[in-house]
Amino acid sequence: MADGSVQLAIQVAKAAGTGANITYILRDGARRTVQVPYGYSVMEGARRYGIPGIEGDCGGACACATCHVYLEEGWDERLPLTDELERGMLDYAFDVKANSRLSCQIKVDDAVQGLVVRIPERQY
Ligand code: FES
Repeated sequence: MADGSVQLAIQVAKAAGTGANITYILRDGARRTVQVPYGYSVMEGARRYGIPGIEGDCGGACACATCHVYLEEGWDERLPLTDELERGMLDYAFDVKANSRLSCQIKVDDAVQGLVVRIPERQY
């Protein structure tokens, strides 16, 4: 359950149109779409809004790989993995695929409006 400050952030983002709609596909196949404020990472959005399965143990420092996600619906082409640090950290993730990314390294802005990510079966 989100706390009061999260609820306020959601309301502000919705009212001002200052966030991107991000859809998280959960392990059971359910989809949850939330509006994540600009400036958050996709990992931070998941944690703030109580999306299960993205742990983010290192807080977004690209040092744990517990924020692993798969990009869906052509997003792997729009958000290719280019960072060597992220690529190296993905070696520690479970069941890495060509469309794998660390969600803490995806910043929320207009470029990710409508992004869909799938949460892996487990994080490690
Ligand atoms: S939160 Fe640790 S690598 Fe993304």
